[in-house]
Amino acid sequence: GLPARVRIHEVGARDGLQNEKAIVPAVVKAEFIRRLAGTGLTTIEATSFVHPKWVPQLADAEELFLAVADLPVSLPVLVPNERGLDRALALGARRVAVFASATESFARANLNRTVDEALAMFEPVVSRAKAEGVHVRGYLSMCFGDPWEGAVPVPQVVRVCRALLDMGCDELSLGDTIGVATPGHVTALLAALTGAGVPVSALGVHFHDTYGQALSNTLAALQRGVTTVDASAGGLGGCPYAKSATGNLATEDLVWMLRGLGIDTGIDLGRLVATSVWMAAHLGRPSPSRTVRALSHQ
Ligand code: HMG
Ligand code: MG
Repeated sequence: GLPARVRIHEVGARDGLQNEKAIVPAVVKAEFIRRLAGTGLTTIEATSFVHPKWVPQLADAEELFLAVADLPVSLPVLVPNERGLDRALALGARRVAVFASATESFARANLNRTVDEALAMFEPVVSRAKAEGVHVRGYLSMCFGDPWEGAVPVPQVVRVCRALLDMGCDELSLGDTIGVATPGHVTALLAALTGAGVPVSALGVHFHDTYGQALSNTLAALQRGVTTVDASAGGLGGCPYAKSATGNLATEDLVWMLRGLGIDTGIDLGRLVATSVWMAAHLGRPSPSRTVRALSHQ
């Protein structure tokens, strides 16, 4: 069976924009988030409190967060370490996310740490956040394939998921960072996780559409009881470690599929398409989302 409701975790402003070469002004990002909130999205990841040397596009995290903090939606932010958590808490953030890797190669490239060193870095972040009553998401990248290591063994992923949950993360987001997953692999990973005692209610999925599999993978996850799905308005985003420019699963494509399945999201698709068309105009290139293209004249 399929779930009656799905919560969409919108990542366009963070994952979608973090690799844009030209700096998008904070006022434009704030307007983007404001418009996204106006579509009925309830969870809108705003930014990351990381070192600006690592992600120059998000150097305006403080300014942006303050510009949208009044919105009546959840605004999770990424924090890699205690320094990031301090910055987020100082602004009153109520939801944070740490981001681990299932592979050593990506842990090194993304966090300058081994997998276990990164977990050790997150431990005080999670415990301090929980002590403050802040909700913690644990992202896990490279759950399916890794650009350097190839296919990622399921038990390797299960181990890091367990570590993140044991640390106190409230939910996990299983990332297909380079978009290579296929539905059978998704089903196998979810079966292994539930077999290892992980409640499916604690799991979200985060697909990139590099190989055009993101919607199929999402459907496979829904069929196994997942109800939290990450997506990016207009399909913004891309991974610097994947050759293709294709981004995250487009929120519009997801909403179109869910609507057809009779699954409630509470999102106004017309407004969402208009928001992505507006953002695409700002970025100077059309949205790669098939649904945005079908429903607009861009
Ligand atoms: P490091 O260089 O090892 O850091 O980087 P460090 O702890 O040695 O500190 C070096 C300097 O950075 C120090 O400053 C620190 O104060 C400063 P200095 O003394 O040299 O002047 N520093 C900071 N400044 C501001 N904010 C901070 C911060 N932390 C340290 N939070 C670090 C380690 C983790 C910081 C670095 O590797 C980093 O920032 N990585 C972030 C990479 C990133 O943001 N990647 C994208 C997000 S993950 C993703 O997109 C995947 C996802 O979408 C899921 C999927 O698709 O798979 C989530
Ligand atoms: Mg991502």
